[in-house]
Amino acid sequence: MSGVESDTAGNRTSGSGHRFLTPSVITLKDCAVKIAVVGTGYVGLVTGTCLAESGNDVICVDNNEKKVQTLNEGRLPIYEPGLLELVQRNRKEARLSFTTDLQSAVRQSRLTFIAVGTPQSDDGDADLSAVWAVAKAIALALKDVPPGPPGSRVVVVKSTVPVGTNARVAQILAENGCPHVDAASNPEFLKEGAAIDDFMKPDRVVVGVRKPEVAEALRELYTPFLRTERPFLAMTPESSEMTKYVANAMLATKISFINEMANLCDKLSADINDVRRGIGHDQRIGFQFLFPGPGYGGSCFPKDIRAILGMGRKVGQPLGMMQAVDDVNEAQKQVLFQKVRAHFGDDLKGKTVAVWGLAFKPRTDDVREAPALVLIDSLLAHGAAVRVHDPEAMENVRATYGDKLIYCDQPYGTLEGADALAIVTEWQHFRTPDFEVMRRLLRTPVIFDGRNIYDQKVMDQFGFTYYAIGRGKRK
Ligand SMILES: NC(=O)c1ccc[n+]([C@@H]2O[C@H](COP(=O)([O-])OP(=O)(O)OC[C@H]3O[C@@H](n4cnc5c(N)ncnc54)[C@H](O)[C@@H]3O)[C@@H](O)[C@H]2O)c1
Repeated sequence: MSGVESDTAGNRTSGSGHRFLTPSVITLKDCAVKIAVVGTGYVGLVTGTCLAESGNDVICVDNNEKKVQTLNEGRLPIYEPGLLELVQRNRKEARLSFTTDLQSAVRQSRLTFIAVGTPQSDDGDADLSAVWAVAKAIALALKDVPPGPPGSRVVVVKSTVPVGTNARVAQILAENGCPHVDAASNPEFLKEGAAIDDFMKPDRVVVGVRKPEVAEALRELYTPFLRTERPFLAMTPESSEMTKYVANAMLATKISFINEMANLCDKLSADINDVRRGIGHDQRIGFQFLFPGPGYGGSCFPKDIRAILGMGRKVGQPLGMMQAVDDVNEAQKQVLFQKVRAHFGDDLKGKTVAVWGLAFKPRTDDVREAPALVLIDSLLAHGAAVRVHDPEAMENVRATYGDKLIYCDQPYGTLEGADALAIVTEWQHFRTPDFEVMRRLLRTPVIFDGRNIYDQKVMDQFGFTYYAIGRGKRK
């Protein structure tokens, strides 16, 4: 162990006093907690950085050497608005560092967060292999550290994990020489694209704990983020783990619900935009998360719905509604392509389609399970040439598709010689383009709008054939 050390209460006991430059900083650093965050992806990096921003000493750990090297060079391996500035500031002020050395980071830390990925495994369940590996590595790092009072060393599972995972993490710690180390659950509710804001001003913080001392340690940590009467909700680890899945299940259900209604609107020549307004003013329903589109994607909803289905299967509890949410979403990812096919016919050889928006949502570079990729696969399979543009996600797409696609730096350039434009992700600057320029660049003025961002009247005025989601048949 080197450098700064903590006693069991997490207070600094040696070193780095030279960082205490001003009285206000002294106050902050005196109550700073030493924290390790294992897994430096979208969640771990944001968590570590925001906890450093609130005055804690944070060491972020990842087993991906390239990622750690990038971060140590002051760059980010992902795109998340506002994150680079925070990382740079906290590195400069020596509250935030990055390493591949899990053992050293964990031994120095009172709290160790696990924020590794929990992707879908082949059978649909959550793949927890990284969580188990990290839990064991933490135990091996701490097994010869003298036990302290309850809450003095806590492993906090932030990854989204099925009910029972926290209990198993506690068991792994105990089996590997660390019965004195507590396990806690602390699911994360941030949204990519607004992650800093969500972490800094959460609607609520949920923790799953078995001891009041552990709840207290986490309450203290989160107090700076809960100044505006936002609740800190302590419950059992099982309820906490379940809370995260139920939250995502509700949100995914809203999306599949409005998509199903939109598809019916299409067939009946009703306009889902008007219907949304018609229902949203009912306060029992509201407007949020009821936007029709090309299906949900991303690294959370698809895998989390399948993980819920897996949890139900294991305990013999049928979850017909969750199955329907997943089925509707899988079908919805084909809707844009079906519209392309209905317009151009089955054989797209010789046709070129421009695609605006590749990330699964705006303000991120994340393309995991992105609906744009489903559309692109179908277009390529039917012989179309595909020109793509996204302000942030292009490199991630290139890593998978290589030279199968034509990559365009600018939205307008994407349209040159294309027979149609498909909009899959609603980046802000796609909303008010120069329609005259667009019509001139496209070989034929056809738009497939997967996010309903344009007005039919404007489309008619500029002479576009316009297909949206759930807005009735176009003549
Ligand atoms: N991305 C989101 O918007 C979001 C929101 C809420 C919750 N979550 C959940 O948070 C968890 C992490 O998601 P993410 O999007 O940050 O994933 P990610 O894939 O972006 O990051 C995971 C990181 O863990 C690292 N890692 C894997 N195994 C490791 C090991 N053994 N030791 C050290 N590092 C290891 C990987 O290299 C990677 O950098 C998942 O369970 C996810 O469901 C994600």
